[in-house]
Amino acid sequence: MCGIFAYLNHLTPKTRKEVLDFLVNGLKRLEYRGYDSAGIAVDSADGRNVSIIKKNGKVQALQDEIYSREADLAFEATADCHVGIAHTRWATHGTPSERNAHPQRSDEDNTFCLVHNGIITNYKDIKLFLTKKGHTFESETDTEIIAKLMMHIYKKNPNDTFQEIVEQCIQQLEGAFALCIKSKLFPGECVATRRGSPLLVAIKTKTRLATDHIPILYGKDFRPHGGTAAETLTAASLMPRTPSTAEFQPMEEDKQVEYFFASDASAVIEHTNRVIFLEDDDVAAVKDGTLSIHRIRRNMDDPHAREITTIKMEIQQIMKGNYSFFMQKEIFEQPESVVNTMRGRVNFDTQSIVLGGIKEYIPEIKRCRRLMLIACGTSYHSAVATRQLLEELTELPVMVELASDFLDRNTPVFRDDVCFFISQSGETADTLMALRYCKNRGALIVGVTNTVGSSICRESHCGVHINAGPEIGVASTKAYTSQFISLVMFGMVMSEDRISLQQRRRDIMKGLQQLEEQIKEVLKLDSKVQELAKDLYQNKSLLIMGRGYNFATCMEGALKVKELTYMHSEGIMAGELKHGPLALVDETMPVIMIVMRDPVYTKCMNALQQVTARQGQPILICEKGDKDTQEFASRVLEVPHTVDCLQGILTVIPLQLLSYHIAVLKGCNVDCPRNLAKSVTVE
Ligand code: M6R
Repeated sequence: MCGIFAYLNHLTPKTRKEVLDFLVNGLKRLEYRGYDSAGIAVDSADGRNVSIIKKNGKVQALQDEIYSREADLAFEATADCHVGIAHTRWATHGTPSERNAHPQRSDEDNTFCLVHNGIITNYKDIKLFLTKKGHTFESETDTEIIAKLMMHIYKKNPNDTFQEIVEQCIQQLEGAFALCIKSKLFPGECVATRRGSPLLVAIKTKTRLATDHIPILYGKDFRPHGGTAAETLTAASLMPRTPSTAEFQPMEEDKQVEYFFASDASAVIEHTNRVIFLEDDDVAAVKDGTLSIHRIRRNMDDPHAREITTIKMEIQQIMKGNYSFFMQKEIFEQPESVVNTMRGRVNFDTQSIVLGGIKEYIPEIKRCRRLMLIACGTSYHSAVATRQLLEELTELPVMVELASDFLDRNTPVFRDDVCFFISQSGETADTLMALRYCKNRGALIVGVTNTVGSSICRESHCGVHINAGPEIGVASTKAYTSQFISLVMFGMVMSEDRISLQQRRRDIMKGLQQLEEQIKEVLKLDSKVQELAKDLYQNKSLLIMGRGYNFATCMEGALKVKELTYMHSEGIMAGELKHGPLALVDETMPVIMIVMRDPVYTKCMNALQQVTARQGQPILICEKGDKDTQEFASRVLEVPHTVDCLQGILTVIPLQLLSYHIAVLKGCNVDCPRNLAKSVTVE
């Protein structure tokens, strides 16, 4: 995920080398979030221009580049006041490259330079508008339109302040953003703002601040209500500017001050623990060393000021937020990550889905002989989880393959096959080998990955980026649910014009729309699951049974238990119970059963009774309020009702939590289980 860091010193002399080191170290603190390129913008050595330095790859490569330009950058010169902005980019729009890295700029003179976290969903409209106004674009990013829009606004209203230009600009933006902006027109000033992506301002003074609050100033709404993006752009750009009526209240503080802007506190904590967490639509502006926070309009219950908080956490803790492990954090991020997977693709108003990365290939895919979904581990389970739905929605044969086995069998592949390669990292060697095998045989290759610019991404003909954000824990959690949704979205795209499937599609749409809230509800089971873990963690084995749409959950849950807790665990297809696994069941064997109110409910109930008849004490994952089913269980974990094909997203989460809690109780290394790696780049 992208990272922002910016540094402003006012009347605190620093050598330019010190400033550059601050910026680079700030980025290093954000490296854990995952990224593919990095860059900075600082004043040029003569102070009259802005220099941008960007590098594809690691922050170290950026630092090497900066150090190789020591003379150019006048390392030893001292600056009393200076603004530098820096960024690590995790590609979403456009491949990882220097061109697409941030800072992005307004023009060749670097008049406005900015760094951005998030995604601008209406960037195409704005780009079109700006192109018509004569702006040309040099990157594939959504971010570049923001810099160019600022330039456009400035040209229309050259007397506006920096903060006013930013305020007008963000009123045209839709989507999520955290922005830090530097302009050569406004030396020594920095403006930062956010909506939907986190951003904080940290303050460092020699003496303690005289205030704990920064008052909020209210300004003018430049955006006429109700217009489309293109209309409002035109209207805003023509609208005469009215000076802000808000009273300016300078902060009473030490004149010597340093400000840090960052997307998370881990980047600033080594400098100061005094921070303001900005709220959506806050515009924080530093001018002449004074910080002011502006908002366009005031809602009734808004506070009048932003509090300066003293943060007490260690860096390591902050990176993980309030969580003990990255895996735990990633499990709890799922309400947000599933929304990110759908963002800009699913339109709930029009009930339509567009997958930009494969759109052009849909007619070809519709003509194919069969779909093959090929992957390893958890990614393979996401294919198992969605196979039935894909068969239903595409009306095509769907083969689901473990990459290693697929290669061992020299599986026949044909030119009219469409092969999906699903991989969080995009680098898994078995999956990549299988991709090359299929590509050599002329099949259409579709990548489904979480890592833009990865080998699978690059070598695919087209693909879907799952947008789950970086997954640091070796055990895959949020990537699984995002892969699941990506494949569901693909099925929906394929069935768009099928009249007979319209009701089914509406049900799935409704389910997708409810997912965020329903996942939040499932996560509330955490303490109940923790109690369950206390009962189970000393067992040698754990069976997880289910069928239909929930078989994948059984396999995925068992994989999580194995890899994290080193306990034997098996995902069992309930239909196979009588064919062998039932022999394992007695009063001592822990059994988890998933029984949902779906077409295989009766069959699952049969399996449940076969287990209880052998003195098994099944722990049930079932639908909320389903008392009839719960009667047969020793313990129950209730999840909300959703459409059958999305149940697997809700039923897997209690098992993710369970494996996590058992691992903690057993003292296992949660984020790095023994013998495993996050990215398996060997066959
Ligand atoms: O990066 P990939 O999705 O291709 O990785 C595939 C598997 O190695 C991975 O899913 C593995 O099974 C996970 N560690 C399980 O949690």
